[in-house]
Amino acid sequence: MIFVCILYLVLVKSVLSGNITGYGLSQHGLPNNGLLEVNIPGSCNWGPVRYISRYNWRDPLDNLICQHFGYVNESIVQPTTKQGSYPEVCMTIIRCTTEAMKSIHDISDQCEIMYGSPTSDYDNLYKEIKCIPAQLVDGVTPLQGRVEAGLFGKLQSNCSLGFDSRAANVTCASLGYRRGATQQWQNSNFGAGFKPIYKRNITCSGDELSLELCNHSNTDIPGCDGDNVVGVECQGDMMKLEPLFESRPYEGVLKGYHDDFRYDIIGSVSNSTAKTLCAMLGHRFVGFAGLAIPNKNLYYYKMDVSCSGPEKSINECKGDLQFCVTQRYGHCRRMYNMHSHVALFCSDYELQGLSLDLDGVLRMTVNSKQWAVCKDHFTQHTAKTACRIMGYTAHTLITTHTAGANYTEILGSLICRENSASLADCHLKHQFSYRPYRVDAACTNYVKLKCTS
Ligand SMILES: *[C@@H]1O[C@H](CO)[C@@H](O)[C@H](O)[C@H]1NC(C)=O
Ligand SMILES: *[C@@H]1O[C@H](CO)[C@@H](O)[C@H](O)[C@H]1NC(C)=O
Ligand SMILES: *[C@@H]1O[C@H](CO)[C@@H](O)[C@H](O)[C@H]1NC(C)=O
Ligand SMILES: *[C@@H]1O[C@H](CO)[C@@H](O)[C@H](O)[C@H]1NC(C)=O
Ligand SMILES: *[C@@H]1O[C@H](CO)[C@@H](O)[C@H](O)[C@H]1NC(C)=O
Ligand SMILES: *[C@@H]1O[C@H](CO)[C@@H](O)[C@H](O)[C@H]1NC(C)=O
Ligand SMILES: *[C@@H]1O[C@H](CO)[C@@H](O)[C@H](O)[C@H]1NC(C)=O
Ligand SMILES: *[C@@H]1O[C@H](CO)[C@@H](O)[C@H](O)[C@H]1NC(C)=O
Repeated sequence: MIFVCILYLVLVKSVLSGNITGYGLSQHGLPNNGLLEVNIPGSCNWGPVRYISRYNWRDPLDNLICQHFGYVNESIVQPTTKQGSYPEVCMTIIRCTTEAMKSIHDISDQCEIMYGSPTSDYDNLYKEIKCIPAQLVDGVTPLQGRVEAGLFGKLQSNCSLGFDSRAANVTCASLGYRRGATQQWQNSNFGAGFKPIYKRNITCSGDELSLELCNHSNTDIPGCDGDNVVGVECQGDMMKLEPLFESRPYEGVLKGYHDDFRYDIIGSVSNSTAKTLCAMLGHRFVGFAGLAIPNKNLYYYKMDVSCSGPEKSINECKGDLQFCVTQRYGHCRRMYNMHSHVALFCSDYELQGLSLDLDGVLRMTVNSKQWAVCKDHFTQHTAKTACRIMGYTAHTLITTHTAGANYTEILGSLICRENSASLADCHLKHQFSYRPYRVDAACTNYVKLKCTS
């Protein structure tokens, strides 16, 4: 690292230092995204600031930059770094004592500054910052609250008179909730807050990704005051199950979708949280959670999600969106096999009947479908009970057979109480409640049974 810095100093062209008269955020795509720019009259007019951070992206200085321009904080979305397509840098900052900085005006006191462009592209990192352009404040859940939006350099709350349902949709989209608003309040339902009240009429088509991109009237709307501050509720992230077996869409690895990216859900999840998550997915059944070993890198993720029951979206549960477990030199370090993905089993798996087919394969009817029985946990007691349930006397012969790989007709094991002849004394033990949820870990040994009359 020291070597890099020394090399760097050598490469920087010597340019007379000047007085910084202003900072800007060069816009790339959205007004809330861009490079930090600086104006140094006489030496450099509005060019990018490059900074070499010991934090890489997720530098606390990024939050100060966002706040300086009236936004909330840096977004969890990874700032992209671009090479070459920007103008030459005006200045480079290194070794900031970020802890001591209260605003970006402290850059001149708390960072080492090198003016001018480096003469080499070595390590020439332009750091694009993505700021969160709005926040929902004082709601009961994180999906609702008073709208405080970054508008033209200031974080402001909105007068509801000039704010329609399209603007509500745009507010949600700007936060990454692309599925729009579910509710809107006109009457300071979440309080008026302490931010200035923005009184212009905002006209959006509904497709904008930030309120700043909507049309704004030139004059204030009369009658806007602390009684009509707007509140919004957004529809939370989408979730999907990625099933191992297409015939069982109610089982799968759980994935979340926020904005236009997908995140992993990892760690442990209790059975009651599993039930709540299953309900969000539209399954009315009991639900339990299993573990799937990831075979992919971990980038965006939520860990150890915990819900209490009434939530309608995973955003209302505990467990924040995270990005990158570790990072080095501006890159997300890849994670292999460190954390298990959450797999959900969203069915009640009701055991409805037992039968023997012509080959003697024991089958159980679950979810109105017939399945072979995994040999795990299969005992003489269970065999006897199964024969009795099917109307035979107790004498049995158990054999097990190996199905080919990817055999999808085995759901789990059958466990019956001793000395019983009732289906109610038997239950299904789902194979993935004790095996890792992976195709190559699935049970392939099934039971054949000979019952005698
Ligand atoms: C910076 O500002 C100070 C005071 O305003 C002035 O004396 C000085 O000449 C300026 N320096 C440059 C390089 O413009
Ligand atoms: C901004 O980020 C800091 C941590 O870097 C955090 O303490 C603060 O609560 C965040 N502010 C908002 C409004 O989310
Ligand atoms: C709410 O914030 C958005 C962002 O500007 C702004 O466009 C809109 O004008 C604000 N609404 C009101 C009513 O101030
Ligand atoms: C805001 O602008 C729209 C479109 O021009 C208009 O229909 C609406 O009446 C305006 N709202 C107010 C409160 O002026
Ligand atoms: C808001 O977004 C949702 C989801 O895309 C859409 O169904 C709804 O029609 C939108 N509302 C308006 C007023 O555009
Ligand atoms: C915004 O204003 C422009 C120019 O007047 C107009 O063409 C456009 O339709 C307006 N957009 C909305 C959503 O009203
Ligand atoms: C969760 O449910 C599974 C399947 O029903 C069960 O095997 C397991 O014991 C339950 N775990 C807890 C902690 O209750
Ligand atoms: C089993 O399924 C996996 C994943 O779908 C596939 O890669 C593998 O080739 C399959 N094996 C057989 C024997 O069909």
